[in-house]
Amino acid sequence: MNALELLRKDHSFVRNLFGQFERTGKTPSEKRMEVFATIRRELQLHCRAEEEIFYPVLKAMEGEGRRLVVVAIKEHHDIDELLTRISRRKLTDKGFDSGFEALVEIVNDHLDYEEGEIFRFAEENCSPQQLEEIGSQIEDRRRILDQEMAA
Ligand SMILES: [Fe+2]
Ligand SMILES: [Fe+2]
Repeated sequence: MNALELLRKDHSFVRNLFGQFERTGKTPSEKRMEVFATIRRELQLHCRAEEEIFYPVLKAMEGEGRRLVVVAIKEHHDIDELLTRISRRKLTDKGFDSGFEALVEIVNDHLDYEEGEIFRFAEENCSPQQLEEIGSQIEDRRRILDQEMAA
């Protein structure tokens, strides 16, 4: 699958999970914890696959690729840090909800940034064939990471 299509699909999945989390209601529940765990795992898998497969290709290109990737990686760090911070809290802590709200905000900003500037740069600088190749590499890498994380 085309890399940009694949990543866009992941992004919609995360946005859906955010909606699912909201719909579990404010009361701490097993379901709420479960949705959060899925969000965390999905974000970790997605960000790592981007950093290992997708970003290096853009970084190696002439033009603004490097600058765009530096910003994206910084955002991944922020997301990762926040995920760790929220995970240390209990669902019943006040900090959980405010942390989660902050997470939704920075993740949404990041997804918009990628779908805007990063994808535009990739579209302008990669051939459709190259995007297909990157797409299948991302799929393969994700499968392996998924197994590693489950182990
Ligand atoms: Fe992404
Ligand atoms: Fe990303």
